[in-house]
Amino acid sequence: MVFGDLRGWIEHLRKEGELHEVNAEVHWDCELGTVARKAFGEGDGPALLFNNITDYQKGRCTRLFTGGLSKYARVAMMLGLPKNASLTELVLATRKAYNGRVKPVLVKDGPVRENILKGDDINLYDFPIPKWHREDGGRYINTLAGIITNDLDTGRLNVGIYRGMIGKKNTIPTLIWPAQNWGGDFQKYADRGEEMPVACVYGWEPSLPFCAATPFPPDVSEYEVMGAIRGAPVELVKCETVPLMVPASAEMVIEGYISNDPKTFELEGAFGEFTGYFGGETALRHKIRVTAITHRNNPIFFGTLEGTLPKMLNENSIMSSVQRSALAWNILDRSGVPGVTDVHCPAVNNGTTLMIQIRQRYRGQAKQAAMAIWGTNASHQRYKHIWVVDEDIDIHDYASLDWAYAYRVNAAEGDILVVPGTFGNAIDPSTRLKDRDTLKFGTGKWARVLIDATVNMDFEPEEQYGGKRYPPTVHPHPEDWETVNRRWKEYGFKE
Ligand SMILES: Cc1cc2nc3c(=O)[nH]c(=O)nc-3n(C[C@H](O)[C@H](O)[C@H](O)COP(=O)(O)O)c2cc1C
Repeated sequence: MVFGDLRGWIEHLRKEGELHEVNAEVHWDCELGTVARKAFGEGDGPALLFNNITDYQKGRCTRLFTGGLSKYARVAMMLGLPKNASLTELVLATRKAYNGRVKPVLVKDGPVRENILKGDDINLYDFPIPKWHREDGGRYINTLAGIITNDLDTGRLNVGIYRGMIGKKNTIPTLIWPAQNWGGDFQKYADRGEEMPVACVYGWEPSLPFCAATPFPPDVSEYEVMGAIRGAPVELVKCETVPLMVPASAEMVIEGYISNDPKTFELEGAFGEFTGYFGGETALRHKIRVTAITHRNNPIFFGTLEGTLPKMLNENSIMSSVQRSALAWNILDRSGVPGVTDVHCPAVNNGTTLMIQIRQRYRGQAKQAAMAIWGTNASHQRYKHIWVVDEDIDIHDYASLDWAYAYRVNAAEGDILVVPGTFGNAIDPSTRLKDRDTLKFGTGKWARVLIDATVNMDFEPEEQYGGKRYPPTVHPHPEDWETVNRRWKEYGFKE
């Protein structure tokens, strides 16, 4: 779907009854975050437009939009599917879009350049940036902004989502993990002793945050995948002070440079993270030295609440469960793992756990699947635990998984594989604090676990089981179901 910009997306949401405007005064200091938390609910709440934010009723920016993709129905709308599309349908459409490419086009000018601020005019406090939670280390300005960087060798423009908070009025301390694509881009600049240019894009069509939050291989520009999702090229303009390009109709862009000189570092963290815990404890980290802000007239600020807990879902949870499933399924396909029939990441863990359903053709297939996933950049911070089940197990139903776990998993038969010392998630508190030091180690440290809950193909086919490796289940035979269903009322039951 082409929405044109954030405003087009908001209008579409309004028409579809998916938008709630908050006109009562709401404070940026913890109140707005708590309203969003309650409204997002279990992934069934509306998108939110805050029109009356304390201290920002007048001035450069008076509105904030959040929660555009915090519900599956709205992910369906972005993909041009019916609102009641199933999760598997969303994953299949996303797989297709991820394999498509539509190159962006460069245009001369666009609304994002209606206002251009440089030098002393730059003041990040002019924007209604929430302190989302009390324990956040500051006011997090970069929560769902698409951060643009380029590959020095190829020129490829990367769009990623990487957290950052207001430091001074013109600095954004940030957290760079080397295993993320901007981390790779940054290393090339650092090796040359140069600062890396960045542009942070706030507010455009929903395909921007959706793609920016997806770990494509390093040579892929998210702009091309966004083009595939919307079915039309993204129109870009050149930035003012950095050699990068941004969507011409974005609400706002912050341009700047990041140095690798520890003398420039500023305090960053902690932040209420996707794990549901505060993570990335306060430490001196890299910062964006802001060189320009460009924005539309009456810009709408764009950000989101992180932190998923049971029965408390949000934009990242919902997006991740679609993105991370689609991406993993494409990786399995490309790696030649046969027989994959469904892939699912439950929303509550943002892709930390991956469920794969397969039709087994040969032994070792579950291990092949897990290894294919764990070898890719997509598994940084994600896919810690992989379950592989047979086709008769519904991976969207925890009871089915639990039953398979109970009777198709036997650690003595090698059904639980532990791969120690892999790259991990530096904000996962199940990793010791000392092992979560990003500047020292670059990433977290995980033992990854495969739970192979498929029928063990090392077992011999048994004659007494009709040539199968496992006994029959107690499911009644079709003819017995037929008799009982037909006579059900005769037995005195209502339905
Ligand atoms: C709301 C939200 C916040 C995120 N915050 C971060 C972050 O602070 N640091 C990070 O490396 N990844 C973060 N991610 C995940 C990355 O966006 C994701 O891994 C993406 O693939 C990064 O782009 P890249 O693969 O081009 O590096 C966040 C994702 C979302 C949806």
